[in-house]
Amino acid sequence: MDPAPITHAPRDHQEYPGAQYILPTDGLERKRLAVQHALVKRMFEDRILFPPIHLAKGDKVLDSGTGSGTWLLDLATSVDASVEMIGFDIESRLFPVDPPRNITFRVNSVVDLPAEWSNTFTLVNQRLVVLGLEIPQWPLALGEMFRVLRPGGWVQFLEMVPEHVGETGRPNTDQLIALMQAVGKARNIYLGCAYNLPKMLADAGFVDIQQEWRIQKIGKGVEEDSAQKENMMELFRGMKTPVLKAGGFGIVSSEADYDALLEGMGREWEEMPATDHDVAAIWARKPSESGTV
Ligand SMILES: C[S@@+](CC[C@H](N)C(=O)[O-])C[C@H]1O[C@@H](n2cnc3c(N)ncnc32)[C@H](O)[C@@H]1O
Repeated sequence: MDPAPITHAPRDHQEYPGAQYILPTDGLERKRLAVQHALVKRMFEDRILFPPIHLAKGDKVLDSGTGSGTWLLDLATSVDASVEMIGFDIESRLFPVDPPRNITFRVNSVVDLPAEWSNTFTLVNQRLVVLGLEIPQWPLALGEMFRVLRPGGWVQFLEMVPEHVGETGRPNTDQLIALMQAVGKARNIYLGCAYNLPKMLADAGFVDIQQEWRIQKIGKGVEEDSAQKENMMELFRGMKTPVLKAGGFGIVSSEADYDALLEGMGREWEEMPATDHDVAAIWARKPSESGTV
């Protein structure tokens, strides 16, 4: 498919070799991630830590796909400053400029972590990286997380299921979701990964696998309405450059088409009933007797 004409200034996107992550990396995305952090935290009664652990001196925490580091920075406010924390991402542009001294940020992909990290971390967190990993990369990522955890250490995920919003009954919103599914399919992204994560964790050797699900209401008249709208609109704005570069998937043929869908989605948000969206927190433990080399 030929690229559709782009008249907007294309947003900055990651350029990590081979990476398929869809959303941009710039000031607008940093702002969206802050809004999203508050929303998902609220959805889980203000919890950002799910396994039964108390982090103390000597513990190390790893945040995979850290983005702007919102999760780590929040965790650092309630954990002793002697706990060492590392956030990594395929893209460094969103990293905080002046983090607390116990937090460092570095560029890595979760499918290829440093050899010297084996059996090191007490907790590995990965939140909302669904739009980043290709289907065959999930078992590789879980294998790497297993390897870098200490025996008895915990991994935790928080993921949304973007494909599930597909039958909203709102024509413009549904078209944008169809575009997300199309761009995801073209990049072999696992949009429904959350449904299969418990099984993939068991296959990777994890035990004590636990999960909590929430239904996020999307639309007018629900709690946090304006923040949810901002988050969702900005997410779809962020997909514009990749969709147009890929030719529009037979759904849009120009930037004007795409912008009309966004405008329509904004109207539908105000005028039509809310719909549901699945969100999961899933956590699991590396067996105590298992070391990895
Ligand atoms: C939606 S953001 C979420 C950021 C952060 N986890 C949060 O919850 O605020 C997804 C992040 O995953 C990163 N990412 C995508 N593929 C990755 C990979 N293979 N390894 C590490 N990070 C990745 C992206 O660059 C992006 O910063």
